[in-house]
Amino acid sequence: MLKEINENAQSLRHTCGAFFKSNLRRLKEQLDGADKIIIVGCGTAYNSGLVAKRWFEGCGCTLVDVEVASEVRYFPPKVTKSTLVLAVSQSGETADTVEAASILRGMGAYVVAITNVDYSAITKIADQVVNVVAGCEICVAATKSYIGQLTSLYMLSQLKKGTADCGFAVLNQIAQSVESVVQNDELIDKISSLCAKSSAVFFLGRGIDYAVAVEGSLKLKEVSYIFSDGYPAGELKHGTLALVDEKTLGIIIITHVQLLEKCQSTVEQIVSRHGRVVVITTLQGVLEKLKGKAECVLTLPEADENLSPFLTATAVQLIAYKTAVKLGRNPDRPRNLAKSVTVE
Ligand code: M6R
Repeated sequence: MLKEINENAQSLRHTCGAFFKSNLRRLKEQLDGADKIIIVGCGTAYNSGLVAKRWFEGCGCTLVDVEVASEVRYFPPKVTKSTLVLAVSQSGETADTVEAASILRGMGAYVVAITNVDYSAITKIADQVVNVVAGCEICVAATKSYIGQLTSLYMLSQLKKGTADCGFAVLNQIAQSVESVVQNDELIDKISSLCAKSSAVFFLGRGIDYAVAVEGSLKLKEVSYIFSDGYPAGELKHGTLALVDEKTLGIIIITHVQLLEKCQSTVEQIVSRHGRVVVITTLQGVLEKLKGKAECVLTLPEADENLSPFLTATAVQLIAYKTAVKLGRNPDRPRNLAKSVTVE
């Protein structure tokens, strides 16, 4: 798992380069003509769609839905001949995702497969393929493929927006920052010690940070077996706050400067119930603001909030990995899970 997290920047760069081998003219036509975009996938692939929804909406797409593939089989969303489906799957063999893509295509939608594996099942049913080039991912927990999926999805959103290089330049800059997150992991070590001592870890954030929080939670529970949930920060007070006590850790992701104050109040809600708090941020000056409240503030390199998921996701992957190791669990072989789920 660690080796693959260390390859995040490479996955980002290679996926970026490969994007231009896709038929961009056809993709652009589909993006511009779409009445609705539906992103479909399972697990981490689904979570990449939660991030991408914000990107597409920021580029003027009015209707962007993210669907769990296993639900589509029985409860397919409405589609028309102008609906664009982005079916995301690292392996390209996940039965639920392949079936969902096939059903939606049968209903008239145009299906683009976003996958790390050439000639996989999903590429055979899709109208078009966008390649993730993460390299072979062996570990059950998806890490570098998530970064590759985010890269493809970001570039598609920029293609829709009309950005000349589809985001190539800014993505290559962020790849350097991803490398520095992986290299400076002292605080991540401290955060994983806090996780290892907790009975429950809540990952919280707003907007795009919430989308990464969901992935952070999945990663942690998958390899450490600690109970975890990913939550919109503002929802905490509507129920989950009842679970907060001295054994609970809240990991709050903050990358929107305009939401900093709101997130500070989430920190206070947890601290006043004796819960412990860690903050992951790309904003400067947060450490000073939260002194005496958060146990630890991990300040990542400064980044545009839209590009921050590449950094915050890398951090939460490392936290999950280190927590598992601290608890003596083998992150490379999580119990009960298979790399590719080829049955319903
Ligand atoms: O190969 P896929 O991307 O279609 O796999 C989907 C999920 O099974 C997968 O992302 C799973 O959630 C991972 N174990 C998450 O780390």
